[in-house]
Amino acid sequence: ASTTEVDVSAVEPGQAIKAVFRKQPLFIRRLTAQEIAEANARPLSSLRDPETLADRTKEGREDMLVTMGVCTHLGCVPLGAAEGEVKGEFGGYFCPCHGSHYDTAGRIIKGPAPTNLEVPEYEFTSDTVIQVG
Ligand code: FES
Repeated sequence: ASTTEVDVSAVEPGQAIKAVFRKQPLFIRRLTAQEIAEANARPLSSLRDPETLADRTKEGREDMLVTMGVCTHLGCVPLGAAEGEVKGEFGGYFCPCHGSHYDTAGRIIKGPAPTNLEVPEYEFTSDTVIQVG
């Protein structure tokens, strides 16, 4: 299986970048302290697909959210990873196809998507490089 390396050294808190993994969009987002706090404040019992931010990130790097940029409803590419795009009602990602709103941890909060944005297999190979796959 192929892997993808992404240099994340230029990604500042509050920014996201798009990459491609196995021909699909990949979102890498560096969360601000407020976005981390918002994610951690959300009760698990309120979630359709209960996972903590810690479940979805690497230990010590809760600020770096790596997800597929593929809506889990019918596969559209959500908005929110590019400068100026709407992030939806919960500050994460918004899928305009049928109105799915994801939070700052990429978890589905509102709309038809059944599950959170998928977190692919990945690891940090250095402080600034992520290898996906
Ligand atoms: Fe995203 Fe339907 S494909 S809401």
